[in-house]
Amino acid sequence: MSEDRTSELLREIDAYVEGLFAPPDEALEAALRDSREAGLPEINVSASEGKLLQLLTEIAGARRILEIGTLGGYSTIHFARALPDGGTMISLELDERHADVARRNIERAGLSEKVEILVGDARELLAAMVEAGIEPFDLTFIDADKEGYPEYLDFALQLSRPGSLILGDNTIRDGSVLDPQDDSSRAMREFNERLARDERLSAVVVPLIREGIDGIAIARVLVD
Ligand code: SAH
Ligand code: DHB
Ligand code: MG
Repeated sequence: MSEDRTSELLREIDAYVEGLFAPPDEALEAALRDSREAGLPEINVSASEGKLLQLLTEIAGARRILEIGTLGGYSTIHFARALPDGGTMISLELDERHADVARRNIERAGLSEKVEILVGDARELLAAMVEAGIEPFDLTFIDADKEGYPEYLDFALQLSRPGSLILGDNTIRDGSVLDPQDDSSRAMREFNERLARDERLSAVVVPLIREGIDGIAIARVLVD
């Protein structure tokens, strides 16, 4: 099959899955629209990946979620909706402008009570959480700067308990992890290798259709 036909088919398959499992949703569409109008980059998870995040949260029975990289809150809304009554989420964001847009999007979705956005460099915010000995998270979603993934994994492990899930977005990036040519794909390759090797984890990377081909890492902290 020609490359053009293959990418067309990938787009059609993604639209098919999205049409079935991620039907139009007012709060999510408004979040994307306002993010775009505010000039945020369009690098949120896809609608069907959002649905996957929601399902993983439900399957894990997560009550406490940590997200690293908020952007306009599109993925945040999926997680927060999957939380049970009393469940909470902390999302970390470097850019105050992104955090402002996200807060408005989350408010409109009726989820403000469940979500706290902390603004700052995730490395510093995570180090402070470890230092403070806060209650572990049931699920951590890593989705900030790609160079930081190996370091974020160290923090996520320190902030997890046996049975917690650690997820990583963008772990395939059009195959750039196969033969990394820049710092971010080298870091992503290291992240995937660490997930595979770390004896505290059971993990896999699942390829996903996004603009091109990307992937999500799903890891579970083992119970010994
Ligand atoms: N999770 C979002 C997308 C996040 S995009 C979604 O799918 O809807 C990555 C975000 O990480 C951007 O908003 C960027 O500003 C933020 N970011 C980049 N470096 C960061 C850092 N060092 N600490 C915290 N956030 C960071
Ligand atoms: C980029 C970042 C993301 O988190 C994503 O899902 C897609 C693209 C990026 O920085 O290009
Ligand atoms: Mg991402």
